Amino acid sequence: MSAPPAKSRSESAYVREAKVVPGGSMRAAQWFKPHPPYAARGEGCWVIDIDGRRILDCANNFFSLIHGHAFPPILDAVHRAMAGGTAFGLPTESEILLAETLAARNPRMEQTRFCNSGTEAVLSAVKGARAITGRERIAKFEGCYHGAYDWMEVSLDPSPANWNDESCNPASVRSNAGVPESVLRETVVLPYDDPQRCADILRHEGRTLAAIVVDPLASRAGTVPMSKEIVGVLREACRRDGILLIADEVISFRLSFDGASRSFGLEPDLIATAKIIGGGLPIGAVSGSADLMSVFNHAEGKPKVSMGGTFSGNPLSMAAGLASLAHYSQSAIERLNGLGDRLRNKVRDSFSAAGVAASFTGMGSLFRLHLGGANVTGYRTAYTSPEKTQLIRRIQFAMLEEGILLTPNCSGALSTPMTESEISLIADKLVAVVAKQVAGHESVAAG
Ligand SMILES: Cc1ncc(COP(=O)(O)O)c(C=O)c1O
Repeated sequence: MSAPPAKSRSESAYVREAKVVPGGSMRAAQWFKPHPPYAARGEGCWVIDIDGRRILDCANNFFSLIHGHAFPPILDAVHRAMAGGTAFGLPTESEILLAETLAARNPRMEQTRFCNSGTEAVLSAVKGARAITGRERIAKFEGCYHGAYDWMEVSLDPSPANWNDESCNPASVRSNAGVPESVLRETVVLPYDDPQRCADILRHEGRTLAAIVVDPLASRAGTVPMSKEIVGVLREACRRDGILLIADEVISFRLSFDGASRSFGLEPDLIATAKIIGGGLPIGAVSGSADLMSVFNHAEGKPKVSMGGTFSGNPLSMAAGLASLAHYSQSAIERLNGLGDRLRNKVRDSFSAAGVAASFTGMGSLFRLHLGGANVTGYRTAYTSPEKTQLIRRIQFAMLEEGILLTPNCSGALSTPMTESEISLIADKLVAVVAKQVAGHESVAAG
């Protein structure tokens, strides 16, 4: 009898981790069945796992690494900052520089407060909006992710069984057990791709709302650019009813030099950012006009909203963020977005030439795969049944076997170390894997 195959180092690591961590992983998003590969180190757009396998990284720590791994200017900046100490009970000049950098890129980011995650950035913006308007309710779009804050998690992943019929307004649905009923009542859910219904809901609810939170390229709503019609509806409702518009640019800030909002015609009052502005270290930020941001101003006594934490504006994140943005120039953005366009066109053309029923959405350096022939316009058309979700996970796994890391819903992001050759590799592998997996799935279904 032959000996059982030796365990890989990643498998052994997973067995150990499962004993001390629920689910054997810190985040569901980085988990694979039967176990994830454990990262040892990264080099540019490649990650090397502890078994020595080289993987082309399109997850980029969930789109936070715009320059890939171990980008020398970021490492130099962090090493220099670290040599002087990692954190202080005093401000450092680096926080001024990063806030100035954001203000110089986008005049709507006149003032900024830093925190340590996108979740904190969005929740602080929501708290600020409530304090400014004196209203408690907020609106968000169905299926959109804005971090782990009760109100923002409403209708994060509803299904046809509970999202309400197409002819009704989207229901406010719990995504975690134990969320109070009051949170559902305080959160109005909007359809991402139905301007008429969106306008009707806002006409009805607008005067009760402190804020509408919007991501114009929402990944969970399909990574489909928000339509001009919806943008127009938001603009009108905010003006008419005194609602603040909060742009969640935690991911979409990478789309252009000044972020995402302007190119979509959005006029946000507050902007939440994170991910690439921290150069790969933990960060979040709320920005807006000096007038609105005064809600956080403690200099004249107790602020309306206190915002700050032990590591807010920590010098390592500030240094990494400054180096990251310094190298994410207009020309670097145009080059990367051009690679994204070519990737999407190549994959779409190949799907249609091969007769594969799949679509490939996205914008700039962001992309996402969808199976089936539906025109994906928002959360409901992007929704996958549990069976299709399994197929998507199999595709993600098969791509990993081919040496390419995608996120669990088969979305991805490009990074600046990538070139045409990585784009061709991603396109060729993705089309081949999808064609094979879809054919396999169809033959099982038929058989
Ligand atoms: C659009 C959006 N908003 C907010 C967040 C939360 O950011 P963080 O994971 O840094 O808390 C995320 C995270 O992926 C996101 O994609």
